[in-house]
Amino acid sequence: MEMKIKGPTKLVGETRVGTSKNAVLPILAASLLTDEPVTIHQLPKIMDVKVVLQLLKEIGAEIETEENDVTIRGEIFNLYPSTEWVRKIRGSFLMLGPILARKKRVRISLPGGCSIGSRPVDLHLKGFHLMGADIRFVGGDVVAEAPKLRGTRIYLDFPSVGATENIMMAAALAEGTTVIENAALEPEVVDLAHFINTLGGRIRGAGTSLLRIEGVASLHGGHYTPIPDRIEAGSLMVAIAATKGEGVIHNVIPGHVKAVSAKLRESGVEIEEEADRIFIRRSAPIQSIYVKTLPYPGFPTDMQAQMMAYLCGCENSSIISETVFENRFLHVPELLRMGADIRIEGRTAIIRGRGEGLSGAVVKATDLRAGAALLIAGLCANGITTIEDCEHIDRGYENFSEKLSRLGAEIDKSPS
Ligand code: UD1
Repeated sequence: MEMKIKGPTKLVGETRVGTSKNAVLPILAASLLTDEPVTIHQLPKIMDVKVVLQLLKEIGAEIETEENDVTIRGEIFNLYPSTEWVRKIRGSFLMLGPILARKKRVRISLPGGCSIGSRPVDLHLKGFHLMGADIRFVGGDVVAEAPKLRGTRIYLDFPSVGATENIMMAAALAEGTTVIENAALEPEVVDLAHFINTLGGRIRGAGTSLLRIEGVASLHGGHYTPIPDRIEAGSLMVAIAATKGEGVIHNVIPGHVKAVSAKLRESGVEIEEEADRIFIRRSAPIQSIYVKTLPYPGFPTDMQAQMMAYLCGCENSSIISETVFENRFLHVPELLRMGADIRIEGRTAIIRGRGEGLSGAVVKATDLRAGAALLIAGLCANGITTIEDCEHIDRGYENFSEKLSRLGAEIDKSPS
């Protein structure tokens, strides 16, 4: 698929954020922790969710969808989900913990996902090993076996979101108490803990670096509405700011986008927060800023590319340091095609702003957030920007181009 954007545009109006992709994916995996029905409300219609639902079906779960809700009965017959589907997204590896906890054995391919770094899973596996699982690699797959998972103390060398979630899910059904030290603090981790607790789990400390999970014999069914997507909210904020626009974004938890709001304010954007919406307006030139990506509550790596596209419109130089992933500057060569002036030194990018000077070009979306960044750059650039492989954007954003169009963007999508 390719997308054509006619710029420059000024985005103006009101829009609404959908449900968080990174909260929904682990929650869908965690629905396998029980064989009783679990209903998830307001499911976002994005590719990654379709992939996980397909995987759940394949291993035996019954899935019923009704409008935006899905009900899952977590039967598990097949302990080896198909490699082809697992490799489509990184989030699929989160099925390891729940299947291992329920069925004592699982075989799963090493995951796929965005090409933003080597993305190892050693911390996930370290956790399962410490809980008593035997872990082997067979033909590119991980085979994990544990007649009994036992609670233990696990220190994560890095507060990995995925490792915290995977271990938390397995620990929910393990014997005894598991303590995760240096756990990830991301709101999606907290949401997963709340979800498991609504099913009868006993997880304390979510949102702090010390998680305490008391294992229970079984979990029951329930209903849950996951949190709104803070990365979609941040992307919309940046898009409005980049186009010197003005808008109201509904269904946002302002506390979840604090780092993005702080950096946009520093660069000269007006932002007002209410309980569940944000007002945003830029009328002044973009000021130079320094952005460093960090685990939550630091500036999210998932907003780095979009912020870079925004800073291309700065009158001076800005700096972005990427500390979470080692190869997350794949959008830079594409922004250069549009006339951006960006130099990479190791994990740092120096962006010499061009003011209003980007120009439309044919570019390629290499991953989800890079695609969003190119879309933002295209909204600001003069002329037509064509984004090839724009289906990456649909992997994680629900109707993103449609939402931008309603704010005044001129966007056409067509098969390439
Ligand atoms: C999740 C998000 C992703 C986001 C990232 C960081 C999902 C589905 N994806 O990815 O959008 O960019 O958090 O906020 O929720 N690491 C290891 N060993 C491991 C696991 C991770 O070294 O076993 C490293 C990674 O290579 C990376 C860093 O830890 O450098 C962060 O990764 P992690 O927090 O695990 O990200 P994901 O859960 O994959």
